[in-house]
Amino acid sequence: MHVTPVAAPPAGDELPAWLRPRIPEGFRRLKAPIRLCCIMQKGGSGKSTTTVCLACELALAGLRVRVWDVDAQLGGATHWLNPDTGDGRGEPANLLHLFRGEASPDEVTYPTRVPGLHIVPSYTSLKQVELAPPPGVEQVIDWAIDNTSEPYDVEITDCGPSLGQLSIAALVGTPNVIIPLKASGFDLNALAELNRTLGLTKARLKPELKVTAVLLSEVMKSNLTQEVFDAMCADYPEALVMGIRMSVKAREASLESIRLPLHEYAPTATVRQDFQYLAAALVEQGMA
Ligand SMILES: Nc1ncnc2c1ncn2[C@@H]1O[C@H](COP(=O)(O)OP(=O)(O)OP(=O)(O)O)[C@@H](O)[C@H]1O
Ligand SMILES: [Mg+2]
Repeated sequence: MHVTPVAAPPAGDELPAWLRPRIPEGFRRLKAPIRLCCIMQKGGSGKSTTTVCLACELALAGLRVRVWDVDAQLGGATHWLNPDTGDGRGEPANLLHLFRGEASPDEVTYPTRVPGLHIVPSYTSLKQVELAPPPGVEQVIDWAIDNTSEPYDVEITDCGPSLGQLSIAALVGTPNVIIPLKASGFDLNALAELNRTLGLTKARLKPELKVTAVLLSEVMKSNLTQEVFDAMCADYPEALVMGIRMSVKAREASLESIRLPLHEYAPTATVRQDFQYLAAALVEQGMA
């Protein structure tokens, strides 16, 4: 057991008024052990950025955190967090091997440069899970979390831009949903399709599934941002709704030539303040 300072309940006063988050009455901050899933099938909506930055802030607060890269594309959480996977020869044991029953949950978990933050990496080979799903594919992440030798305080999955088998496995394993979406690319049809998948997964596979937060990625002060914010507050009355400010620092931090966690690359950037706020608003950072 470890003890970390209890973060003051966030009031939002440190954020500009136009960015003030909506925290519904009765919203309860999550207590460890916590399972979060960043999902939205539209590409580039801010899933990997949210996963990595939120995971880092929670690890900095003293929680043991594990990120699951559930995306077969290059350039997601594995690329940014650049885990130490050993000698660098060949592809290390990764999420594909866990799905195939060829490696244990512990064998596919690696440390990162951030103390307390681990990752289950994936590579383009993960596509094979969608092409030829192994039996019980939907239960694998849930099972793996339950069968890890040293449990984590926070498990957080970074989905790819699809609602296929991998994303369903992520939802079943980590049923507290975070939906990042871009106000500028707001798409009612995409959201309706996501809601259908969430509803079916909840009804058929995971009754405790719920939308915990909706994040507007890369926001700037505008009428459109306000309209989408209001629409999300109405559509997800029980969720925390907030904007994450647009900042070039967020983009630069994950670039091949930099590849540093945001808190190291740009510790005072506004976008980092937003993720600090989100971490404190979402998770009770007391004793774990
Ligand atoms: N707040 C922000 N300010 C500026 N750029 C951002 C911000 N959030 C994300 N980005 C940039 O937007 C792009 C898409 O973000 P990200 O990779 O997090 O999306 P994604 O949903 O994971 O994409 P994919 O669906 O391809 O996995 C990236 O280049 C990222 O650096
Ligand atoms: Mg991504």
